[in-house]
Amino acid sequence: MIDRRFLLMNADLIRVYLRKSATFITLSGIVDKFRISGGRALHGRDSISGAKNSALPCMAAALLTPETVTLHNIPYVRDIITQRRLLEDIGATVLTPELRTHKITAAHVELFEAPYELVKTMRASVLALGPLLARFGKAKVSLPGGCAIGTRPIDLHLAGFEKFGAEVKLEAGNVVARAPSDGRLRGADIHFGKVTVTGTENLMMAATLARGYTTLRNAAREPEIVDLADLLNKMGARVNGAGSETIQIEGVESLGGAEHTIIPDRIETGTFIAAAALTQGELEIKDCRPDHLTSVISQLISVGVVIKEVNPTTLQVTCPDGLKAVNVSTAPYPEFPTDMQAQYMVLMTQAQGRSEIVETVFENRFMHASELQRMGAQIQIEGRTAIVDGPTTLNGARVIASDLRASASLVLAGLIARDETLIDRVYHIDRGYEKIEAKLRAVGANIERIIAPVTAAQSSEFNVQVTPTREQAEA
Ligand code: EPZ
Repeated sequence: MIDRRFLLMNADLIRVYLRKSATFITLSGIVDKFRISGGRALHGRDSISGAKNSALPCMAAALLTPETVTLHNIPYVRDIITQRRLLEDIGATVLTPELRTHKITAAHVELFEAPYELVKTMRASVLALGPLLARFGKAKVSLPGGCAIGTRPIDLHLAGFEKFGAEVKLEAGNVVARAPSDGRLRGADIHFGKVTVTGTENLMMAATLARGYTTLRNAAREPEIVDLADLLNKMGARVNGAGSETIQIEGVESLGGAEHTIIPDRIETGTFIAAAALTQGELEIKDCRPDHLTSVISQLISVGVVIKEVNPTTLQVTCPDGLKAVNVSTAPYPEFPTDMQAQYMVLMTQAQGRSEIVETVFENRFMHASELQRMGAQIQIEGRTAIVDGPTTLNGARVIASDLRASASLVLAGLIARDETLIDRVYHIDRGYEKIEAKLRAVGANIERIIAPVTAAQSSEFNVQVTPTREQAEA
């Protein structure tokens, strides 16, 4: 019996292969739910997967060279499938000798485009813009619209490409960019008006092949930026200062192949720390990087979580004395990450006292609050501040996930709620968490994935072509 995840993971390869052989089969679209019976303390050991937010730009970086880029520790998540499909549609080959190893070779690029169908399902598709423009002098990328957590413009990316001398136009919802007449970008001194992670990554990649020097000021400092810079330097680039506010890049004529291992996912690590604390269990979290989580670890220790660094890649987490309310504000790295805000909110529903959570990065990232309120949480939203009173007992309910981290917070709430919680639209969580239900079950959680046939409405939302089951076709 073929593992369903193997089919999902390789659906695109199968689809590409079959499309090429003019036979097209669509896997039936499945909208899964999670059913969780709460109240069990988690005990045991879990291993952290590679970081989605590093794997995505590192895969895009392979477009900078005709040689093979081999990436290890690639997480087994839906966004990676989308990125792989984008690379294959552009003309690169992506081989997976092992599940978490991708060998990407962009020797025969035929299409310089990231189409709407893909960009609308994953904004990070815009990371193709920098490499395509830098290497081929042209690129067309669908302008990503807003998403559940905010308007999320890419004006800072585009302003940067213009500073490199590119002509950037908006045509029919697409960004169409062209390098100067000699086909090569020119190094530039760029100051970001706002810290942007993918903006820094896009311009850093483009600068590697530009003529002359580039300085990126007020750059993002996330560990994923450093990981990408490490890969680029292995490919022959000259990037200095990644991880600081000022990154300097000396452009080179061309880049070569390289082999690189993606860093562990610090947000998945933070999510599992929260799971151990909330369920008052004891977890050993392996294959993580505590040094990428200093602000999260210090914040969680201040609310009462006991976090021991067993070794540089292993944490031990308990929470014997319960939680106390402590305020927090999200901000770019190295401050408390916005991607941990929803999970932190669940912790604060169980903490003694009142806490204020200020979301400074995205303007609409409290969608999970109303679902948590439906489970009995005491939360008030005032603009960009959530005021949480605790501790309150959460009760199981039917809830809907609205985005990746919101869905993680609902899973955490389900783990501690009385009775049963049913979470809809878990495809959001599959975008960035690898087999979360299996990892939680391995340490004692009562969680299962319910595979539900997709309805027509869902299929259009999902952009998935549905092959109706016999029953549906006959219904
Ligand atoms: C990255 O998104 C991450 N995604 C996000 O993780 C993360 O939440 C975010 O950084 C902040 O840490 C990936 O790495 C693929 P930004 P990104 O550009 O790069 C504004 C997850 O859950 N802005 O740093 O898109 C923007 O609107 C995801 O894994 C502009 O105004 O975020 C936001 O308010 C969600 N103009 C702020 O800056 C621009 O041109 C930071 O956004 C760019 C950004």
